[in-house]
Amino acid sequence: MKTELTRRLGIQYPIVQAPMAGGPTTPELVAAVSNAGGLGSLGAGYMSPDQIRAAIREIKQRTDRPFGVNLFVPEQPHMPEDVIADMNNHLNTYRVKLGMAPRSTVPALSEPFEEQAQAVLEEKTAVFSFTFGIPPQDIIRSMKRQGIVVAGTATTVDEALALADAGVDAVIAQGSEAGGHRGSFLPSAADARIGTMALVPQIADHVQVPVIASGGIMDGRGLVACLALGASAVQMGTAFLTCRESGAPAVHKRKIIASKENETEVTTFYSGKAARGILTDFMKDMRHYEGTIPAYPIQNALTRDIRQAASKLHNPEYMSLWAGQGIRLAQDQVTAAEIVKQTVEQADRLIRRYSGLRSED
Ligand SMILES: Cc1cc2nc3c(=O)[nH]c(=O)nc-3n(C[C@H](O)[C@H](O)[C@H](O)COP(=O)(O)O)c2cc1C
Repeated sequence: MKTELTRRLGIQYPIVQAPMAGGPTTPELVAAVSNAGGLGSLGAGYMSPDQIRAAIREIKQRTDRPFGVNLFVPEQPHMPEDVIADMNNHLNTYRVKLGMAPRSTVPALSEPFEEQAQAVLEEKTAVFSFTFGIPPQDIIRSMKRQGIVVAGTATTVDEALALADAGVDAVIAQGSEAGGHRGSFLPSAADARIGTMALVPQIADHVQVPVIASGGIMDGRGLVACLALGASAVQMGTAFLTCRESGAPAVHKRKIIASKENETEVTTFYSGKAARGILTDFMKDMRHYEGTIPAYPIQNALTRDIRQAASKLHNPEYMSLWAGQGIRLAQDQVTAAEIVKQTVEQADRLIRRYSGLRSED
């Protein structure tokens, strides 16, 4: 199962554990995946530069294998004050319901991207990946100069071409099955929602750099399928979200284990940016406000206190329960190393079967 990317990164298996910002990708998880022969990734989009440094150092204490760090390329939306105030006012209904005080202010929107990137650069991780756009050229160039492998997220061929033009070393092809935020950044990609099966070979045909397939890949079957489609590795999120080392709240893990493939939806209601998660009361209720949602990251900042309070109360209906369409294949009480091992062993059996080397099972 050696591919261009496993060779380039010096990893055993073409399995990337998806970066998942907001808590799931603990240093334990990242290190466990890398120690098991895959590539662990820290979702650092919501972390301050100091938190990023501390997390990277903790991962380095747990593994000497390669791992990645992922950031969000910032956006500066211009939103009329009254749209923001109206939404904040509406969100007070949920704040009161959850026992919180109403609020009319807008909290801090996001962490300083350039300083976050500087932290990654100084710590010199094996991989720097990003989503929601393309970082400034000087950042991409400095990363590459340090020998850091740079990977960007695309949801259409045009986005993949834009990333390749910007000099990335690999393209993450994110299909619409994927859990969490869509990485789309070109206006033409906004509503495209191309599935992984269709997206990966089309991107592989158009870029020279290795492609990492992402979205709905949960086991060895998905891995083999994506290698056949032209991918050099897979990036799995939901599969690792429920494992023991994941920092996702227990109630989020339980909801994933109990949910079916038709129970996720793509919504903008939590953050102002399209993201796939398990349908909640919040998503249903917010349908009345469709068309009035402030853009990312404003809505994300406005709902943060609600999501955090709901999580403390173990109330899943007001939390963002990001998960992909492969949800029914998620496993309970499994370790990250077991996921890597099972995926590789199943893929290996399938490759042998299809190549006629062995025909049992
Ligand atoms: C809880 C969660 C958080 C995520 N956070 C990030 C992130 O911080 N950065 C990123 O590039 N992708 C993020 N993603 C998307 C993943 O990188 C990946 O595209 C997705 O998980 C693949 O689909 P799957 O969940 O079906 O495996 C997140 C996904 C989930 C489920």
